Amino acid sequence: MGETSQSMIDDKNCETSNAPSSRCKAYQLGQASRLRHVAFRKMTEDDAPALVAIERKCFDKHDAWRRSYFISAAMDWQSEYLVAEVDGKIVGCAGAEINSDAAEIQTISVDPDYHGQGIGTQLFAKLLAAIRERGATLVYLEVRPSNTPAIELYEKFGFSGGAQIENFYRNEDALIMFKAL
Ligand SMILES: CC(C)(COP(=O)(O)OP(=O)(O)OC[C@H]1O[C@@H](n2cnc3c(N)ncnc32)[C@H](O)[C@@H]1OP(=O)(O)O)[C@@H](O)C(=O)NCCC(=O)NCCS
Repeated sequence: MGETSQSMIDDKNCETSNAPSSRCKAYQLGQASRLRHVAFRKMTEDDAPALVAIERKCFDKHDAWRRSYFISAAMDWQSEYLVAEVDGKIVGCAGAEINSDAAEIQTISVDPDYHGQGIGTQLFAKLLAAIRERGATLVYLEVRPSNTPAIELYEKFGFSGGAQIENFYRNEDALIMFKAL
């Protein structure tokens, strides 16, 4: 994967759907305001403040990552972290730590103002591609069993649920999900 890539959120493109053309047109009109140019690039230390702001919008204060976590990840050669930008504004981040052939997804978050626009899907796809390029053959993550949007995103990419880790989070167990690359 290149350092930066540009793409358009158009994965529900009517040209590839079986929808009748009138429905298709209505769908396109409805979607028009949601089409945005999203740029993806590797995270740097300078991105930490913007990412902390997104964390605080997505998670409670116990789960939200602090600035130092992002700075450490940006400096760690075993880490692969990507950010998504809309009009130059950071709107999401996804990252993993790679230990030889296994990679642990450590975070994925999208600014709630930009949820449901396909940005999480694109970020996750690009992160998995980058992990694969770096030689990992297994990828896994921990997720709260109550986090339906995240679990559905992971299932969409072929992740399966495995064991649960008791009391992994302050007030909830964690579900381990994994996928062979
Ligand atoms: C999980 C998250 C990153 C998804 O980001 P997003 O940009 O909204 O995701 P997308 O628009 O690309 O949607 C991706 C998929 O997620 C799932 N999803 C998203 N929102 C959902 C919702 N409210 N309910 C159920 N599933 C949902 C769907 O499977 C969706 O695919 P579909 O559109 O084909 O149905 C986002 O909800 C988020 O930042 N959550 C808070 C942080 C978090 O919990 N991170 C995971 C920690 S383990």
